[in-house]
Amino acid sequence: MVGWILKKILGSRNQRELKRMMPIVRRINELEAPLQNLSDEALRAKTAAWKEELAKIPALEDQWKRLDEILPEAFAVVKNAARRLSDRKHSFTVCDQPMVWNMVHFDVQLLGGVVLHRGRIAEMATGEGKTLVATLPLYLNALTGRGAHLVTVNDYLARRDAEWMGQLYDFLGLTIGCIQHDQEPNVRREQYAMDITYGTNSEFGFDYLRDNGMATTREQQVQRGYYYAIVDEVDSILIDEARTPLIISGPTTISTHQYDKWKALIDQLVRKQTMLCNRVASEAIEKFEQGDVETGGRLMFKVKLGQPRNKQLLRMMEDPDKRRAIDKAELSFYADSRKEELFALKEELFFTIDEKSNESDLSEQGRNFLNPGDPNAFVLPDLINEFTEIDLDPNLSDDEKERAKTERQQHCDAQAERIHNISQLLRAYCLFEKDVQYVIEDNKVVIVDEFTGRKMPGRRWSDGLHQAVEAKEGVQIDRETQTLATITIQNYFRLYQKLAGMTGTAETEAAEFHDIYKLDVNVIPTNRPVARKDHNDHIYKTRREKYNAVVNEIRDCHSKEQPVLVGTVSVEASELVSRMLKREKIPHNVLNAKFHMQEAEIVARAGQPGTVTISTNMAGRGTDIKLGDRVADRGGLYVIGTERHEARRIDRQLRGRCARQGDPGASRFYVSFEDDLMRNFGAADRMTRIMERFGLEEGQELEHRWLNKSVETAQKRVEQRNYLIRKRTLDFDDVMNMQREVVYTYRNETIDSEEPRTLIYEVIDEAVPAKVKEYLAAERDEEPNYTGLLNWVNTTFPLGLTKEKAQFETRTVDENAQFLIGKIKEAYERKSSHEEATAVKSLERYIILNAVDRLWQEHLYAMDALREGVYLRGYAQKDPLIEYKTEAYDMFVELMANIKNEVLHNLFRSTSNLQAFENFLATLPQFLLREHVPTAPSANAPARDRQLQPVGAMAAVAGDGDGAGEMTLDLPIRRSMPKVGRNEPCPCGSGRKYKNCCGRVA
Ligand SMILES: Nc1ncnc2c1ncn2[C@@H]1O[C@H](COP(=O)(O)OP(=O)(O)OP(=O)(O)O)[C@@H](O)[C@H]1O
Ligand SMILES: [Mg+2]
Repeated sequence: MVGWILKKILGSRNQRELKRMMPIVRRINELEAPLQNLSDEALRAKTAAWKEELAKIPALEDQWKRLDEILPEAFAVVKNAARRLSDRKHSFTVCDQPMVWNMVHFDVQLLGGVVLHRGRIAEMATGEGKTLVATLPLYLNALTGRGAHLVTVNDYLARRDAEWMGQLYDFLGLTIGCIQHDQEPNVRREQYAMDITYGTNSEFGFDYLRDNGMATTREQQVQRGYYYAIVDEVDSILIDEARTPLIISGPTTISTHQYDKWKALIDQLVRKQTMLCNRVASEAIEKFEQGDVETGGRLMFKVKLGQPRNKQLLRMMEDPDKRRAIDKAELSFYADSRKEELFALKEELFFTIDEKSNESDLSEQGRNFLNPGDPNAFVLPDLINEFTEIDLDPNLSDDEKERAKTERQQHCDAQAERIHNISQLLRAYCLFEKDVQYVIEDNKVVIVDEFTGRKMPGRRWSDGLHQAVEAKEGVQIDRETQTLATITIQNYFRLYQKLAGMTGTAETEAAEFHDIYKLDVNVIPTNRPVARKDHNDHIYKTRREKYNAVVNEIRDCHSKEQPVLVGTVSVEASELVSRMLKREKIPHNVLNAKFHMQEAEIVARAGQPGTVTISTNMAGRGTDIKLGDRVADRGGLYVIGTERHEARRIDRQLRGRCARQGDPGASRFYVSFEDDLMRNFGAADRMTRIMERFGLEEGQELEHRWLNKSVETAQKRVEQRNYLIRKRTLDFDDVMNMQREVVYTYRNETIDSEEPRTLIYEVIDEAVPAKVKEYLAAERDEEPNYTGLLNWVNTTFPLGLTKEKAQFETRTVDENAQFLIGKIKEAYERKSSHEEATAVKSLERYIILNAVDRLWQEHLYAMDALREGVYLRGYAQKDPLIEYKTEAYDMFVELMANIKNEVLHNLFRSTSNLQAFENFLATLPQFLLREHVPTAPSANAPARDRQLQPVGAMAAVAGDGDGAGEMTLDLPIRRSMPKVGRNEPCPCGSGRKYKNCCGRVA
């Protein structure tokens, strides 16, 4: 009911909005008529004139106002150019295929263009010509010279559309670029410099990460801002892809995973479980044969808990009686409110795996197997309880209590890490299948996008899962990698000043677009009525029967020369159909990730009489299949889906490969009770009953309008669940996103700064007073710590301050801070006066970038751990997200303070040139020189000694005698000290606890 009302409102609102845009369309057409009399040059001159005019308007808002004003005429110009190309039968090649231009924008396309210009989503049915629609707003917005981007789902479409639509832009005098996966940075920069740039979402996203998180000079950056983007197949990119963030990883210094170590044991454990489950299944078969259906059902439910993809289980689910017995057993276990029986059942297995929630859990037996004698090694201690006990213990001093707590905390962390490793391995073994979720290539695990069947090189599952799969497959575990930079697709696209999208299937996700991206959807009517006939689903008991029926249907079409497109949900299924067709000697092509190169040719032929093309559902997304001669008389292209997809959109996309632009065409989906969707989301249950009533025979199918509904209900359930998961991912990433923005902005400010010294001085002005306060503005019971401050000053800066010279007691806290700031800046001016000015500038930038990058990466690492950690805390009835937010905030404050301290720390330890360094040494206060300079530091010198060496270039001086010429020297005295416990005495010698001294968070 609510849905219906909503639809009513949405529907009429959409109509109202479109109605309001209609006059613009009329105006465009009015303006286009007189343009037809202009010469090519005169038409092209409009582009240049507008560009020049807009360049003179500085503010973006004012430019936008002007764009709105010139929209009708600009669109008319684009349409007119299309007309000219059409009239001339302009010929060219696209992806090496010859083509002739034959399109002039239809009115509905003009309408779509207006919607896109306004930063909304245009839902235009598949085959309506969205590629051409995008030319209108791209042309208009590119006139600002800020760069307009068009985002596609794959490299092939980026190239196809750039080469195809490029004809039009070229004619009008705009430049066009196209980003492809294998391009070098300098090529990329050229492409981004063009007026309009086509490329895939991940290339755009990775370039963003490289530019902002890794480049250290302007010259290394390739992008030039985020002004306007149109996302093609917007539902695929902003919704389906949104589940895997883009991650650039690199070497790490810390390696924590233990997958190698556990792999052998897990291997054995999984094998034991398989044997156990097979045994239980055989027992169940016996029981069923004896007529003891109830026991049989219970036994099989146990198999389901332990090995959801057990072969016998799958076979048994084909049988309606047995399926019902198993489902009944499951229900009765879950119905028991105390779940005692369920727990008991789980304990009979080594571990349990939940396919739906993707979770795994060890049982007592399993724990014992992995760590005999210490089953508790895999149980998370109850920290809260333990802490309370420690607090209540009268025999412990405060310090001892703190220490005991720290120790328990560490113990708990280690346990958590171990549990996490094991559970990821179990998931890798039991839920991730080779050639379905991933393929092995060049000894690497490459993720296969479950929606498109395309490989996603460079992407990794997060949270250690990738390493777990690598361990399982016995390929090189990328042990040394950690996240260097990461962003979710959602947050990348939120960077744009204006974002628009287009797709054939947005409506079912309109709410999500609105909530998360503030994108509204306008549904544009089709140019001509859609002539496609969507048949009811054919439903079979088993996969085998289903595929046989599919092959029969293909054979029929093939013999009457109707072209067929077969859509599958996975690469594996594509290959299965392909094998079956080979056996039947039916010639066919396979379009999936593995044959990327021939894609364009295959698509070009797919509409020819008698052609059979197999494609993963979405490898075909966006592809345009043209009908061959006489094919229309045979009913056009016939689309067969071999499985219903989790989301309804994807099914609609597949159907949309046929009946484009008013062509004839038809589609049908084939479904079986063994399909994942049917098994996991309950649709099978109701249908089993119906099937029994009709007494179905082998190979026979069910078909009814109502049954389609039933399947769709299951799909809706999955869509809802996936939405919640995405929303959750985003909630977490939002926290990181804010931090990333701060850090990247600071980084770019540093890279762009002409006077990096002002940034350095800002750091001094902020960090020094904080430090001074820490030492001198003591809490109630503490004395100002003058010695500590003096030590810190002398270990960080080569000031050579003595107690007598410092006279800290004679000043207030603020005065002392100002006093030190003055001294430090003076020393710094003296140091840099010996160096060459531009060299100093790049050194200063380097000092900041170095500190930011190193600590930011460490921070990312810690954030990952935190994210894992808060889920474990979920057990303590706290909301993980809130916990995550609070702690992430604290960690970020600490990060910023650490960056400043690191900059201070390296300020005097870096120099741009050896001569300058020696000159500087000569000016140092004498006592420092005497005490520390003569001996070069050896690697194992006590940390504090090394810190006292005022200049890091020492090692270079000693090791490389002739060190003439320009060089950048940097002393990485990073973490030379062992990590200090928060309650231990501070290593700076102040005599206070570390947490109240150098370890204190600013
Ligand atoms: N104005 C036009 N006049 C004639 N043909 C057109 C026009 N616009 C588009 N077409 C043709 O319609 C076909 C489909 O175009 P296109 O691939 O851009 O559709 P689409 O909306 O992007 O579909 P999908 O949702 O599948 O990506 C193409 O063959 C194109 O040449
Ligand atoms: Mg398209």
